[in-house]
Amino acid sequence: MSKYLVTGGAGYVGSVVAAHLVEAGHAVTVLDDLSTGFREAVPAGADFVEGRIQDAAQWLDASFDAVLHFAAFSQVGESVVVPEKYWANNVGGTMALLAAMRDADVRTLVFSSTAATYGEPVSTPITETDPTAPTSPYGASKLAVDHMIAGECAAHGLAAVSLRYFNVAGAYGSRGERHAPESHLIPLVLQVALGRREFISIYGDDYPTPDGTCVRDYIHVADLAEAHLLALDAATTGEHLVCNLGNGNGFSVREVVETVRKVTGHEIPEVVAGRRGGDPAVLVASASRAHERLGWQPSRADLAAIVADAWAFAQRAEHDGE
Ligand SMILES: NC(=O)c1ccc[n+]([C@@H]2O[C@H](COP(=O)([O-])OP(=O)(O)OC[C@H]3O[C@@H](n4cnc5c(N)ncnc54)[C@H](O)[C@@H]3O)[C@@H](O)[C@H]2O)c1
Repeated sequence: MSKYLVTGGAGYVGSVVAAHLVEAGHAVTVLDDLSTGFREAVPAGADFVEGRIQDAAQWLDASFDAVLHFAAFSQVGESVVVPEKYWANNVGGTMALLAAMRDADVRTLVFSSTAATYGEPVSTPITETDPTAPTSPYGASKLAVDHMIAGECAAHGLAAVSLRYFNVAGAYGSRGERHAPESHLIPLVLQVALGRREFISIYGDDYPTPDGTCVRDYIHVADLAEAHLLALDAATTGEHLVCNLGNGNGFSVREVVETVRKVTGHEIPEVVAGRRGGDPAVLVASASRAHERLGWQPSRADLAAIVADAWAFAQRAEHDGE
């Protein structure tokens, strides 16, 4: 049994990983300020501290084996409007967390990085050696953290793994996606199925893709969680390992909408709107490095299965009046 601090463990991905850690028999403390998270998402077997990563030094001590760091702001659009909020929380907060880890001599870190660090891809699928040229302050703040972590590994012997998630989707029982405002496609289409939204907007159907709509790589949140447990084992003193996490095959916006129609039995009206600035046509991960270095293999790559889990969660949340 190991002891882990999970920052952002009341959020979507962090709560699912915290649940996996608890189920594997580990001691888990969740540190979350509930700015976008939910107290009830923290697994029953975990300790909960309501606080900010900026103050992590108050709770971190040498009894922890590692930190899994999910806490961040992650709305791409908002980051364009108020970039300073993203630099302060994502970069400033992580600086404080890294200092607290150094002081407490906690020397292993798994960090939630993102496909947004790459920006417009130069080729498909995207590999970890591809250029990083983020197109939003959000992506830039995450890339800055990756650079900070690399320095921490080289200078101070941190063992760190940055996992660059592509489009996280699906749910794990009572833990699923609840962002406000929601910007992710699958929960948005499910809102149409629930009658909360009249139609789904398709931003551009003239991209150079088979059906003209953008193609993205959807990865089930439970597959993602398993990669975090493997990353804890793979972390090596002095090394900053960066791994993409995706299924390696993309689905178009139209395929997602069609799958939601099949899974939910609802009609899902769609309206084709113009392209949004900064949306690359195709974003698909090469996950070869995660396979080789972590021994990770996604087992829920089927889009219908991902949507079915997200639908079960959305109905449950609707029933609970959220
Ligand atoms: N969801 C995705 O598709 C996706 C894709 C790529 C990367 N990521 C990254 O994964 C991580 C988790 O994303 P998510 O979708 O679960 O987001 P989320 O908003 O659901 O979770 C983030 C959690 O961090 C907490 N938090 C934020 N700032 C904090 C602070 N200063 N101190 C303490 N707690 C704080 C929030 O309250 C929330 O519970 C983020 O770092 C995000 O950038 C997510």
